[in-house]
Amino acid sequence: MRLANKVALITGAAMGMGEAAAKLFAAEGAAVAVVDINQEGAHATAERITAAGGRAFAVRADVSDADDVKAAVDATVSRFGQLDILYNNAGVEIEQAPTADHSIERFDRTIAINLRGVFLGMKFAIPHMTGRGGSIINTASVVAFRAMPGGVAYCASKGAVVAMTQVAAVEYGPAKIRVNAICPGAIETPMLAQARRRMGTAVDNAAAFAPLRRTGTAEEIAQLALFLASDESSFITGAAYVIDGGSLA
Ligand SMILES: NC(=O)c1ccc[n+]([C@@H]2O[C@H](COP(=O)([O-])OP(=O)(O)OC[C@H]3O[C@@H](n4cnc5c(N)ncnc54)[C@H](O)[C@@H]3O)[C@@H](O)[C@H]2O)c1
Repeated sequence: MRLANKVALITGAAMGMGEAAAKLFAAEGAAVAVVDINQEGAHATAERITAAGGRAFAVRADVSDADDVKAAVDATVSRFGQLDILYNNAGVEIEQAPTADHSIERFDRTIAINLRGVFLGMKFAIPHMTGRGGSIINTASVVAFRAMPGGVAYCASKGAVVAMTQVAAVEYGPAKIRVNAICPGAIETPMLAQARRRMGTAVDNAAAFAPLRRTGTAEEIAQLALFLASDESSFITGAAYVIDGGSLA
């Protein structure tokens, strides 16, 4: 088992990539805190894991809320005794509109969840990893590196996640806390289904031009997250892993 005796906290684990990672991490031996703003969905993920013989519990938290994030981290440590892996996966794409038309409120909310949420996760988890080491995985996107028209808030948040990942990697490398980012392309999750409803065939047309000619799956992202969470990636920190079927190439 690649995560035996490890404890992982995964945000946004009610569905999509977070859910896939929670299941895979638990199957590889980790005890998993399933954190999400969607309490029902978080419970459902945790129940599926325990039904399959894994260890998990659900915590309702809005990652943009400092008290919620601190409480989720504390609940994880009191439940499982330690914290080895933080997977800051929760994220939203609230609005697609050209910069001058983008709503200020939605800009702020996007940044609060996608960027502040990642900061808060690291801020409250790192003290529990200090002295014993750990692995932090932050979810960015290929749009950290390439413009997505209509995505002024979303792209900015993801670009900043990569920058923040590098800062934390430099700061905490000596404490053996590794910090890396995952930068997915188009991945089949409820978020992509929503984008498809909004943008129509544009999503699939773009995927059809990528070298691998398809969208990715949440399970494929979970495999990369598992590698970064495990000791197999022990010399990797400060990296931003593009996983996109070659769309950026
Ligand atoms: N799907 C894609 O094509 C794609 C591509 C690149 C990056 N991403 C990023 O990957 C991550 C996972 O995306 P997904 O496609 O699985 O999304 P999803 O919408 O399918 O699932 C996201 C989960 O995050 C939760 N969440 C939303 N706001 C939250 C908050 N404030 N606090 C706690 N939980 C919250 C949702 O309830 C949901 O369970 C996100 O950061 C997203 O931006 C997705």
